[in-house]
Amino acid sequence: MSDSFPQLLRARLGDALAAAGVVLPEGFVPEVSPSANAQFGDYQSNAAMVLAKQLRGNPRELATRVAEVFDGEDLCERPEIAGPGFINFRLTRACLEQRLRDLLADPARLGVAAVADSRTVVIDFSAPNVAKPMHVGHIRSTIIGDCLARVARYLGHRVITDNHIGDWGTQFGMILWGWKHLLDAAALESDPVAELVRIYREVNARQKEDEALRETCKAELVKLQAGDAENLAIWERCVDLSKQGLQKIYDVLDIRFDHWLGESFYNDRLAPLVDGLLAAGIAEESEGAICVFLRDDEKLADQPCLIRKSDGGFLYATTDLATIDHRVEVFGADAIWYVVGAPQQLHFDQIFGVARRRGVVADLQFIPFGSILGKDRKMLRTRSGETVQLAEVLTEAVERARVIIEEKNPELPEEEKAAIAQTIGIGAVKYAELSQFRMTDYVFDWDTMLSLKGNTAPYLINAYVRTRSIFRKLGSEFGRAGGIALTEEAEKALALKLAQFAEVVPSVLSDFRPNALAAYLYDLATCFHSFWEHCPVLRVEGDARDTRLALCELTGQVLRRGLGLLGIATTERM
Ligand code: ARG
Repeated sequence: MSDSFPQLLRARLGDALAAAGVVLPEGFVPEVSPSANAQFGDYQSNAAMVLAKQLRGNPRELATRVAEVFDGEDLCERPEIAGPGFINFRLTRACLEQRLRDLLADPARLGVAAVADSRTVVIDFSAPNVAKPMHVGHIRSTIIGDCLARVARYLGHRVITDNHIGDWGTQFGMILWGWKHLLDAAALESDPVAELVRIYREVNARQKEDEALRETCKAELVKLQAGDAENLAIWERCVDLSKQGLQKIYDVLDIRFDHWLGESFYNDRLAPLVDGLLAAGIAEESEGAICVFLRDDEKLADQPCLIRKSDGGFLYATTDLATIDHRVEVFGADAIWYVVGAPQQLHFDQIFGVARRRGVVADLQFIPFGSILGKDRKMLRTRSGETVQLAEVLTEAVERARVIIEEKNPELPEEEKAAIAQTIGIGAVKYAELSQFRMTDYVFDWDTMLSLKGNTAPYLINAYVRTRSIFRKLGSEFGRAGGIALTEEAEKALALKLAQFAEVVPSVLSDFRPNALAAYLYDLATCFHSFWEHCPVLRVEGDARDTRLALCELTGQVLRRGLGLLGIATTERM
């Protein structure tokens, strides 16, 4: 596979700098990035400006010297200097044509190289709590985490997804009491998760005003933790039913977990873990509780990490420390990525700090995200003021998509309409999430996310459908590429965009930004639309026609692959 254009240009630029007699500061790598404006060529570098500053020279003069000795006729025109010292590169037509041929010959990778340093990455995402409603935070985690898993796998990492569900929390005190006193067997039969959530909410509301009930619930929890057979059996049922309910949602979303090692999996390891930390002198006693003080970290110095309460109970942090051990020792994790809401920053700072004190060398990454807002710009809630549940969001998305398909293409067979509505509805919800930078609080708005115009899943899927429709009209699939000749600007612009897929996919993992891929796909679709308007395909002949068919085919392939990496399916018609 050939290197991406920035890689090639960077190498040549390095050679040119050497040829121009510039002594590079240590570790200096010239930066080459796509030009924001085609007027300035296809790529540009600020290397001369950065270097001139460090070497106290004149940036334009340095840029000119470098451009003069730049050796790259097979790649680009003679570099041009612009502004204070930018070096601009315009790729040659022949070079773009060759790249198109390379892409056509490589449908599995489409130019995207596998990483040289493949790692074992455990991704911790979704992780809802049993019998509690799966709230918007879990929606974001689920969609972002799945996308990162897909991208990391595609780039050649060994990815292990682990759903660390909250199956051992204090909520079980309330659920156990509710199960014994409030359970509606018929409701449990027909919709177990809803019934569990209902009893949890009911008991939770009652115990706020009822001190005696609060104590009874606590006693139920203590019994469970002590291994009481009846309570354990109920707990097991609840966890089972919850998992089945969650699995249905993941099926709709086309998300799979390699493991479901919830909090309870680590129960037996917590006491030895705390003892070990005490023995190693890492943890210490403080007012009857056991803590780790991270004194050498300024931010955490006065925020000790609590790992055993004075009543002997263990905490969320204790479980997470045991989880890290398991992932490192059993899964062989080189890295662990946690996709969890921003409010848990402190928790992760603390457990990462403790893990480092214990000698864990795996790369631990907290990948936080912001909130989802309603149209009123407050936290998203249902009309009755409750947290919005993922299952309901997905059902509504499909229903709404169905109405749109009905309007757009009423003649399609019923079954196909249903399948398309499923693809568009689920895709719209996922894309609304993934097209935003994860830290941005975004407004959840059905009309925007389902619109056929703008930066949405329906728009991108529609662009894909368009690339497919040409081959339907033609009456055959794309065959072998004949002569490739790029003559029109719109063709060249599209060819360049297609080649850039190779640059964009790896960039998703630097700082964990699925939105970089989403933005690229939107640009690609826009680029395709303007090509489509300017360049008739079936009305021309010879190389022009072959080239344009190739561009349609590749656009379809990249859109499909790119959406697939976001976890979004495509459809052949809509
Ligand atoms: N169950 C937790 C919650 O809903 C999220 C768990 C995230 N993962 C972890 N290893 N702590 O807030």
